[in-house]
Amino acid sequence: MTDKRKIRIFDTTLRDGEQSPGASMNLNEKMEVAQALVALGVDIIEAGFPIASQGDFEAVREISKTIRGSTICGLARCNDDDIDRAWEAVQHAERARIHVFLATSAIHREFKLRMTPEEIVKRAVAGVKRAAGYCDDVEFSPEDAARTEHDFLCEVVEAAIAAGATTVNIPDTVGYATPARMGETIRVLRDRVPNIDEAVISVHCHNDLGMAVANSLASVENGAGQVECTINGIGERAGNCSLEEIVMAIRTRADFYQCQTGINTKRLVPTSRLVASVTGIQVQRNKAIVGRNAFAHEAGIHQHGMLKERTTYEIMRPEDVGFSRTELVLGKHSGRAALNDRVKALGFHLSDEQVAKVLSEFKKLADKKKDIYDGDLVALVEQELHGVREEDWKLVSFEASSGTDRVPRARLTLRRGDEQFTEELTTGDGPIDAAFSVIEKITGRELMCKDFEARSATIGRDAQGEAVVDIEHGGVMYRGRGVSTDTVEATIKATLNAVNQISNS
Ligand code: KIV
Ligand code: ZN
Repeated sequence: MTDKRKIRIFDTTLRDGEQSPGASMNLNEKMEVAQALVALGVDIIEAGFPIASQGDFEAVREISKTIRGSTICGLARCNDDDIDRAWEAVQHAERARIHVFLATSAIHREFKLRMTPEEIVKRAVAGVKRAAGYCDDVEFSPEDAARTEHDFLCEVVEAAIAAGATTVNIPDTVGYATPARMGETIRVLRDRVPNIDEAVISVHCHNDLGMAVANSLASVENGAGQVECTINGIGERAGNCSLEEIVMAIRTRADFYQCQTGINTKRLVPTSRLVASVTGIQVQRNKAIVGRNAFAHEAGIHQHGMLKERTTYEIMRPEDVGFSRTELVLGKHSGRAALNDRVKALGFHLSDEQVAKVLSEFKKLADKKKDIYDGDLVALVEQELHGVREEDWKLVSFEASSGTDRVPRARLTLRRGDEQFTEELTTGDGPIDAAFSVIEKITGRELMCKDFEARSATIGRDAQGEAVVDIEHGGVMYRGRGVSTDTVEATIKATLNAVNQISNS
């Protein structure tokens, strides 16, 4: 293994991943994800785009101050204000990187930037030099590189390296590339840029045609030394190259790629669960590597083969990516230490106070539900992580009913601080709709429900239900989450969670 070329894993879940519609994370959630990424062993964490908002700036600064073990990177356009702000945010990191980008394709030059190729080169050089004046780890990205003429791409890359870029990242910004063409682009850069050996070549592929992982692998085959990716492949539009897929492809087919990464693959599933939980973007069941069915063998002939020799139908072992052999976790009499061990194994880091609260909810759940699974525990932890504050709306009690030929009815009692409010309405398409209207009435908020999803956190008739609602308010989307063994209650909690985010924004 040791003689294999090392591919750096650059994770952009907190930057490009957060650009997924509805995937915004608060500071605590970003810290939690950053810690998990360090435990996973990623080389570089792109923590955000500091000039984009005060929240982004604070998150990057906080991660830089606290997180140790990975390089922390902040994104900037090629202008002084962006670069200065990025440095302000990352300067406290153990190892800091500034990532500057500027579009280079003809279409972007002409319609977005209205700049000539000469002006682009000049601006790129100025940006890289300014960043290099702050730190010695500078990444340059010619945005939309995959649609940039090879001659011009070589010219910009050479100039950026001469100006001090230590990594040159080749983005397929719109997910247009094919594996053969992406590989060729990397090869052309290696053959034609005279100073290319002074920088690491990176790739950043989007998944619009479902080829982000294939395009990244073709780049690795042709000499790229860094891959930019996200957990669960989340990101702008159809997302980015999925970290778990590229890492396991490189590992499982090391015979072919002759490369390795520094990723602790046993942390893939816990990290995937954490990101799904904080973003509310669930992983499809058949998703490669981390999907619930990724290692499930249904066909009798496969099961038979597996029993004789598992390699007949299994190219990776579930435990190598972090699936536990048993999903049944704890019992009614489990204590704090056992619970915390399991919480950690699932990828979460909770304070003592949070563990105590989760334990108390766990005991209540154990009274209602016979078997408690990992999914139940994740749901309780999520509830705690998205926990309510004193000034937030809380559910005290509810009643809801509906039936054939009956108008649905909901009665809710909510509390905020010391005040309690009760309202009842007979309205809507069903009990959830009626409860939604009662929440609007009590909170005085007009809520536009854009999406609603309810799913079971585990198996069995007594499984906890997880509800996710996307609510639009004032042109902004808020994603609320709630958990309960009762789906209506989970939905009420999810809606209140979104209302509380609106109040706190
Ligand atoms: O997709 C893209 O081009 C980007 C750049 C900022 C690297 O995200
Ligand atoms: Zn991108």
